[in-house]
Amino acid sequence: MVEKQYWSGMEAEAVVLLLIVVCMNGLVVLSAQQQQLFPAMFVFGDSLTDSGNNNYLISLAKANYVPYGIDFYQGRPTGRFSNGKTIIDFLGDLIGLPLLPTFVETLVGVEDVSGVNYASAVAGILDETGLNLGQRFSLRQQVENFKSTLRQLKEQMDEVKMKEYLAKSLIVMNSNDYINNYLIHSFYSNTSYYNPNEYALFLITQYTTYIMELHNLGARKFLLAAIGPLGCLPNQLATGFAPPGECVSYVNDMVEIFNKELLSLVDQLNTNHTTSIFVFCNTYIAFIDMLNNPDSYGKNSKIPLYYIFKVIFIS
Ligand SMILES: *[C@@H]1O[C@H](CO)[C@@H](O)[C@H](O)[C@H]1NC(C)=O
Ligand SMILES: *[C@@H]1O[C@H](CO)[C@@H](O)[C@H](O)[C@H]1NC(C)=O
Repeated sequence: MVEKQYWSGMEAEAVVLLLIVVCMNGLVVLSAQQQQLFPAMFVFGDSLTDSGNNNYLISLAKANYVPYGIDFYQGRPTGRFSNGKTIIDFLGDLIGLPLLPTFVETLVGVEDVSGVNYASAVAGILDETGLNLGQRFSLRQQVENFKSTLRQLKEQMDEVKMKEYLAKSLIVMNSNDYINNYLIHSFYSNTSYYNPNEYALFLITQYTTYIMELHNLGARKFLLAAIGPLGCLPNQLATGFAPPGECVSYVNDMVEIFNKELLSLVDQLNTNHTTSIFVFCNTYIAFIDMLNNPDSYGKNSKIPLYYIFKVIFIS
C-alpha cells in the first residue's frame, strides 16, 4: 500500500468549501494544488465522468476510438467521452491525485489507494436508464462495485485506518436519467406515468438511498453535481423543439426541477448528518456561463475549461 501524507480535516474542509464557492459561482479559478487534500476519490456517474468502464461492456455508448482522446496523453482514445481529460481528471489534478483507474481495471487488484472510477456512460440512478444503448453499470451496480473495492482495500488496511481513509475520501456523483430515459418516449414507461415534477422526486428518492448507502459504508465527503442544461445539447437541438440559436426550454426546465430538488436534498443531508459534508455543485450554471461567455474559458484561463467545453456529448 502506498503511504500518503493526508491533510488535516480542517484543511480538507477548506478545500471542500472552496469547491462550494467555485461550484456555486460556476467559476473554476482554482490554481493547481499539489498537496494531498483527500487520500482518494471515488467517482459515480455517466459519460461525463466515465474513463473507460464502458470499453468492457456491450454497449453503443463507447468512446474508445478516435477522435476521442486526440488531446489526451499520446493522443490516445481511452474511453473518455472527451478530446482530452474529463472534468474528473482535472479535479484529480487539482487535489493532487493521479488519474484514477476504472473499476474494471481494478478487478485484478487495487494497486493504488488513490481511488476508483465507477462511472459508466448512459447509466443513471434508475436501473433501466441507458438500456436503449446496451450494457452499463447502473448506479445500483456502481455502489455494488464500490463494495467490491472496499473488500479489496480491507486486506490492505486495518479497520481504524480504513475508517479514517473513507471519511477523508472524496465521493463525486453525477447523474442524468433524462436523455437516455425520460426523454425517450418510445422506450421508457416512466415517461407516461410521471410528470416532470413527480419524476424528479422519484429520482431524488432513489438517489437518496444510494447516497445513504455510501454514507453507511463510511463515506463522509460528497460532491453532488447538478445536471447541466441538457436542452442545449446537439442531441436535443436536433429534435427541432427550439428556435434557431436557442436551447430546448422545456428540457432545461425539467432539469432545473431536478436540480432544485437535489439542492434541497443536500441541505437536508447537511442538517441531518453534521459530521459529513455534502456539496451541491451547480454545473448547470457553470455550463450556461460557458455557453454565454466562451471567451472567458479560453486556452489561457487557469484551468483549461476550454477542453471541458469541447467534451463530445453523447449522453
Ligand atoms: C419507473 O422506473 C422504475 C425504475 O427503473 C421502475 O422500477 C418502475 O416500474 C417505473 N415506474 C413505472 C410506473 O413505470
Ligand atoms: C432528515 O431528517 C428529517 C427529520 O428526522 C427527516 O424527515 C428527513 O427525511 C431526513 N432527510 C434526509 C434526506 O435524510
